[in-house]
Amino acid sequence: MKGNVIVGQSGGPTAAINSSLAGVFRTAIDRGAPKVYGMRHGIEGLLNEDYVDLSDYIRTELDVELLKRTPAAYLGSCRFKLPEIHEDIACYEKIFSILDKLDIECFIYIGGNDSMDTIKKLSDYAILNGHPCKFLGVPKTIDNDLALTDHTPGYGSAAKYIGTSVKEIIQDSKALIYKKGLVSIVEIMGRNAGWLTGAAALSKGEDCDGPDLIYLPELPFDIDDFIARVKKILSKKPYAVVAVSEGIRLDDGRYVCELTDGIDFVDAFGHKQLTGTANYLARRLAQEIGCKTRTIELSSLQRAASHMASRVDILEAAQVGGAAVKAADEGDTGEMVIITRVSDDPYGSTTELRNVHKVSNVEKVVPREWINKDGTYVTDEFVAYVKPLIQGDVSPIMVDGIPRYLLHNPKKKK
Ligand code: F6P
Repeated sequence: MKGNVIVGQSGGPTAAINSSLAGVFRTAIDRGAPKVYGMRHGIEGLLNEDYVDLSDYIRTELDVELLKRTPAAYLGSCRFKLPEIHEDIACYEKIFSILDKLDIECFIYIGGNDSMDTIKKLSDYAILNGHPCKFLGVPKTIDNDLALTDHTPGYGSAAKYIGTSVKEIIQDSKALIYKKGLVSIVEIMGRNAGWLTGAAALSKGEDCDGPDLIYLPELPFDIDDFIARVKKILSKKPYAVVAVSEGIRLDDGRYVCELTDGIDFVDAFGHKQLTGTANYLARRLAQEIGCKTRTIELSSLQRAASHMASRVDILEAAQVGGAAVKAADEGDTGEMVIITRVSDDPYGSTTELRNVHKVSNVEKVVPREWINKDGTYVTDEFVAYVKPLIQGDVSPIMVDGIPRYLLHNPKKKK
């Protein structure tokens, strides 16, 4: 590579996104890029000329290894929606003047479907204006809702954490017996897709029955039916464990969490903050059954749990980062790297490219046939799809008994 590379991270963080950053960095250096810049807080930071020379911060092989094991977004992330090109040409001129100033040949953005919208707009602008810079997307999201790719880096590690945590919660629920029963409700991220919530079924095995009910956002949620089912479970055993997606909705389209007293935060892409589903349901159960309830909102823990990262996930995350740099170096632009599953057992995958227009702003949800008839569990096919993605471990580098990370948010050197 003759020109420089710039890379940014965008959207919700994951345990694997920094491994993709490591893959971009290492491949760019190996292919001869004179400099690899990192945008601080994605495109929003770049618009303020906030970037760093990554070589100032990732100096040794140990730094690369630490980066791969560091959760969240090393460079800082953003949820920033670029205007349409015709709405604000000045914004695009500004971005491209910064790219020219830095002699950028390759612009890599690591993110989910909203972030691919940024790659789409920038690559469209470059093509329209005959600008030589190449724009490539690297998939990332714990939600696993990106179209065309078999799965997204970040998902496998979050799924592993969820399967493990639900198993631990089930163990804990068995310990104490309450007169009217105990219901533990685990609220899981994933927005409008149930890939993460379905991963609760991974807890099921020889030594664990798995959760009693799993509710995905793909199907309407009926509160009365839910309460009746819990009652029935408690008539047979003293506890119930339920996994619910943060994004479950009523038949009329309202999110269950909207029935709680109002957090009405909406981000730049119009996404409502989804929180409070488990609390609402627990309150309803306590009122109607009088049982003891416990709510566990896995929240940030499920996307930051690098101590529970999947080896497959961390390796693939680095691989897609490297593949994006290679593609740009070979002249591709306006594409996102996808992961294609080659085989399940032994698991194998490869990377390919897909036009980013086909990916941005599209949500891939769990197919109906991977959810049981009642809409209260996932099928064996679902579990068989996820299982290979959670295999293997990546040991944290422990210092004084706690995982060591590469220091986040490097500042621009004067
Ligand atoms: O998109 C990833 C995700 O983790 C979703 O599952 C969740 O709804 C959302 O991000 C939360 O975003 P934020 O951290 O901005 O509240």
